[in-house]
Amino acid sequence: MIRTHEAGTLRAEHAGQTVTLAGWVAHRRDHGGVAFVDLREASGVVQVVVRDELLTGAAGDLRAEFCVKVVGEVRLRPAGNENPDLPTGAIEVDASEVEVLSASAPLPFPVDAHAEVGEEARLRWRYLDLRRDNARGLRIRHRATRTIRRVMDERGFVDVETPYLTRSTPEGARDFLVPVRLQPGHWYALPQSPQLFKQLLMVGGLERYYQIARCFRDEDFRADRQPDFTQLDLEMSFVDEEDVYEVGEAVFRAVWKDVLDIELPQPFRRLPFTECMDRFGSDKPDLRFGLELVELSSFFAGTEVRIFAGQPYVGAVVVPGAGSWTRKQLDGWNEWARGRGAKGLAYVLVEGDGSLRGGVLNALSDGERSGLAVAAGAAPGDGVFFAAGPRREAQDLLGAFRNAAAREIGAIPEGRWEFLWVTDMPMFEPDGDGGWTAVHHPFTAPAQDRVDDFDVDPADVPARAYDIVCNGMELASGSIRIHQADVQRRVFDVIGLTPEEARSKFGFLLEAFQYGPPPHGGLAPGIDRMAALLAGTESIRDVIAFPKTSSGGDPLTGAPTPITAQQRKDAGIDATPAGLTEPS
Ligand code: AMO
Repeated sequence: MIRTHEAGTLRAEHAGQTVTLAGWVAHRRDHGGVAFVDLREASGVVQVVVRDELLTGAAGDLRAEFCVKVVGEVRLRPAGNENPDLPTGAIEVDASEVEVLSASAPLPFPVDAHAEVGEEARLRWRYLDLRRDNARGLRIRHRATRTIRRVMDERGFVDVETPYLTRSTPEGARDFLVPVRLQPGHWYALPQSPQLFKQLLMVGGLERYYQIARCFRDEDFRADRQPDFTQLDLEMSFVDEEDVYEVGEAVFRAVWKDVLDIELPQPFRRLPFTECMDRFGSDKPDLRFGLELVELSSFFAGTEVRIFAGQPYVGAVVVPGAGSWTRKQLDGWNEWARGRGAKGLAYVLVEGDGSLRGGVLNALSDGERSGLAVAAGAAPGDGVFFAAGPRREAQDLLGAFRNAAAREIGAIPEGRWEFLWVTDMPMFEPDGDGGWTAVHHPFTAPAQDRVDDFDVDPADVPARAYDIVCNGMELASGSIRIHQADVQRRVFDVIGLTPEEARSKFGFLLEAFQYGPPPHGGLAPGIDRMAALLAGTESIRDVIAFPKTSSGGDPLTGAPTPITAQQRKDAGIDATPAGLTEPS
């Protein structure tokens, strides 16, 4: 070993010992004849005192982030010079030898957790960025996956790897495609999830499968999305929802206990999808605060207010304190709503004496004026913000406003973990072309009491699908799957997949399902999102070693890169397979 001790572990009881340390120069201060060097590595920081005569040769210009080896004696710091903020603050190392293991070029940004550094630069020099906080996000993530593996193992789940080079899987995003040199014109798709393979493993009798799996999805960017991301993917045979809930909760409870020492409640709350939409305007409600939606459809039935009249849904969010928001603030919220594709955000404000003011006030009838505050549950000083239109659309807007307004008024408490299961997710949603698409994926079973008629009227059929949501973030999704061929065929019918198309896309799964598939179901928690919550960061990029920026690039490697004409030829990118008229 190059070193005898880890720098951050040295304490007063080591005084008098000669130690050899290795690490980076975090900081150097020169003080007439000596330099004080903060030596940093994974275990922490220690102060090294280097007399000038040692600072010769390669050590001459010892600068920040030089990698060095130091031999020296641990000694107590002189009285009054201790640093109580540092675990090693009672001692320092009096160097007798300093060897530069490798020099550092001038730094693109200070390697200091407190320095403001733009994300592009952080990701371009991600290895320096990791040094800044000792890779905190990755270490937290490691603790989470270690616990996950333990819980899975204790419960008899078998860790199985499934292919990355495969064919299209059904999660609804676009595929990343990989050309196949040996079969010009043929392409692999990278899996959007191991969904179909885990179902095949159930047919294979595995009964309890898990995998910490990479998934690849070509979709639009958001702070909580990456094109390649990681799931704890699991599947179980001979189970119903309760069994999956029990395992899902066990995983999250163990991880929160091990990583944060927090006991999560058992069981988690459960809210049906429709109730989530009605009360919170979201299928991933943040339950850390109130500001629930109030439905005013019947209050405004027969109204003459132009924007409410004849609308299937009118609702509102009442924001405490918003009664005193300035004109500029209110205009800002209108802009915000327009930015989301709405016409605006109508409002009225409640004065201290209970009278109304501003916004749509002039359009209200006398009866509406006198009854509104009570109907909306608004008190003096509150603001009432409305949305009207198709139910789901208007609720979406109010739900987004609810979150934004809570942030604005500081209504989101720190240190709360509001986990819940969102249950009875809808099976289908309109595809925009007069047809239907599967909300989860097309292997999700319909509610047990809708098996016979889900295809008669596909609107609002609940699926046996569920999500785990925490603090407004969707952390996991799963479902009980279809295992009867006729039900599967009818689902394909609803989403407009002909038997030929179904066979061409998922024929291998349908074939497997001819051989006695067990009833099965599963779940997939997103590990990046879980780790981000544990680390207390807004962006999953902080818990990914080498993440991509919001434009999909990796500033460090420069990926994606153009390819050469020769690579194009070798990979057979432009080749059309013989005899293929329509790609399958
Ligand atoms: P779903 O597509 O809902 O379900 O994904 C499950 C969980 O994976 C996480 N996730 C993501 N994380 C980061 N970046 C992304 N682009 C991204 N997309 C999804 C989320 C999400 O809740 N096969 C099904 C699961 C099943 O039915 O068992 C599936 O993949 O946390």
